[in-house]
Amino acid sequence: MKLCLQNVNVRNKRVILRVDYNVPVQDGVILDDSKIKETLETIGYLLSENCKVIILSHFGKIRNEYDKQKYSLNIVAERLKELLGREVYFSKENFGEAVVERVNVLKPGEILMLENTRFMDLPNKLESKCDPQLSMFWASLGEVFVNDAFGTAHRRHASTYGISNYVESCIGFLMQKEIGMLNRLVLHPIHPFTVIMGGAKIDDKIKLIEALLPKCDHLLCGGGIANTCLSALGFNTGESLICTNPEIIEKVKQMLLKYKDKIMLPLDAIVGNTYDKNYVKYKLIQDIDQNEVILDIGTKTLQKYKYAIDASETIFLNGTVGMYENVKFANGTKELLTMLTNSKAIIVAGGGDAASSVHNFGFGNKFTYISSGGGATLEYLATGKLVALEAIEEEDSQIETLDM
Ligand code: 3PG
Repeated sequence: MKLCLQNVNVRNKRVILRVDYNVPVQDGVILDDSKIKETLETIGYLLSENCKVIILSHFGKIRNEYDKQKYSLNIVAERLKELLGREVYFSKENFGEAVVERVNVLKPGEILMLENTRFMDLPNKLESKCDPQLSMFWASLGEVFVNDAFGTAHRRHASTYGISNYVESCIGFLMQKEIGMLNRLVLHPIHPFTVIMGGAKIDDKIKLIEALLPKCDHLLCGGGIANTCLSALGFNTGESLICTNPEIIEKVKQMLLKYKDKIMLPLDAIVGNTYDKNYVKYKLIQDIDQNEVILDIGTKTLQKYKYAIDASETIFLNGTVGMYENVKFANGTKELLTMLTNSKAIIVAGGGDAASSVHNFGFGNKFTYISSGGGATLEYLATGKLVALEAIEEEDSQIETLDM
């Protein structure tokens, strides 16, 4: 287990806190502030320890000057101020003498948020390429580094991994909670354990599927993942999204053979058509036409999946089984979520799309756990590792997990 915040002496110290405030924003409004709220426990603890808190986060991807205007963290600093009910100072700079001067005048119990770490990606990708000078500079701002940015812990960047090479480092409460919950609920689940995998591209998920198949009792497939499996079995999937990479297709074929008793695939679908945006039809899988596109699962599939769901003690949901953003193809995702939330099982959602669909249909408070990570959650479940934590020292104590 990694060194945890509660086991490090931070009293009266300058602490660099890396969080993941990569929040969705539209027209200058934060659409979902849960990533900010999830860090309040760590911030509250640091303030109670009389720390000077220097916050670092990325926000979006910075490829040009326009991105810089779009992704200033100022808006997040304002929201954090509201949530904490106290001042959060914001520095437009995140590198150089001005930052050092600003940090030097910070008082105990004060918070300073620096501008988006990825502004340092322009022009030379210093943040994303984990530049040693930049890592050293950010490390020099504090006496302890707390990494609480679970959502970006799969990135080897200067502000996630680099800093921890140059200053005493530990993991914050959100990071501990995420790892603890994923370990306990998904990596060591109560059986029967069902995994539901949806989403567009099997290429991004194959590692995760390979890691979870030996652990689970059932794998229910939807979306592009199911399409690729169906196509590998010789079904005509029309114009549906499938993987064309021969290496992956071969892996899928092996997987379908080895785990034929665990893998469940759709029997029917709601399809669209490439040439007509108003086209919506119910089809059995064996009847899909050449111009048709599978965009949701049908009622027979839902019925079949219900048997596995009702028999499960733990269910992990990743991705969605249909294009739920379009109301014509939302039924499968909604019905599946209804079945999950009506079941007796421990239900866990992981990955950005699964979490968004759960919130979108108003099931957020019915899930046992919703992981805050997208790529990081999948990476952790697939490999049991997070690259950003590599340089953080191990400790013997057991990780804290939440009571259910
Ligand atoms: C996320 O939103 O998944 C994380 O913040 C990581 O963002 P990234 O994919 O831009 O690194």
